[in-house]
Amino acid sequence: VRTAAVIPAAGRGVRLGPGAPKALRALGGTPMLIHAVRAMADSRAVSLVVVVAPPDGAAEVKSLLESHALPDRTDFLVVPGGESRQESVKLGLDALPPGYDIVLVHDAARPLVPVDTVDAVIEAVRDGAPAVVPALPLADTVKQVAPAGPDEPEPVVATPDRSLLRAVQTPQGFDRAALVRAHETVKDDVTDDASMVEQLGLTVVTVPGHEEAFKVTRPLDLVLAEAVLARRRL
Ligand code: C5P
Repeated sequence: VRTAAVIPAAGRGVRLGPGAPKALRALGGTPMLIHAVRAMADSRAVSLVVVVAPPDGAAEVKSLLESHALPDRTDFLVVPGGESRQESVKLGLDALPPGYDIVLVHDAARPLVPVDTVDAVIEAVRDGAPAVVPALPLADTVKQVAPAGPDEPEPVVATPDRSLLRAVQTPQGFDRAALVRAHETVKDDVTDDASMVEQLGLTVVTVPGHEEAFKVTRPLDLVLAEAVLARRRL
């Protein structure tokens, strides 16, 4: 069974502060996207990586991929993305050639995910799960709040049992047919792909996530990512 990875990289990264689209910002001197592409291509099971570029940046991303060393056994495709992450993933899926029955969806914003995590996700899909997410327990207690006016304090309405909550990461892994059907069926706004498969009533399972698979979202995350890279290079 062949595996492809779709990497949505079309976000602007507003929360990271002003500058280039997030995926194109440097980490250890190399664009975040290149780290993410290598993280997928490092898995021997992944034979195709589809990068979903900023809508006006497909040419730039193509030349970026050409100018960095990537494994020969992997094919690469670049397609322009959309307005939302969901739309970008759909555009990536539409570009997938036949023959790839397992699909990973991986955020460009998670450049440092270790290959063992990628392989564990693929393995669980091979074992029959229609959808697989890497998940970690939460360090913080989580509160549910009710909406409040702009200058009002938000009232807490519930404290879910932390032992049953997980923070989920990417790559998320899918049986291709299930993911395609989810993207054709579910039209609600969602923040990950697995939740769309859940809405079809299919089982989503977890595998252990990894702390280095964190998402680079805010400026402090860049500091952490640089430190992780520096430690790896020791
Ligand atoms: O904004 P957020 O951090 O949730 O984005 C997660 C991933 O989705 C990022 O890699 C980002 O580039 C991608 N994305 C996209 N198209 C959009 C918005 C986000 O590919 N329109």
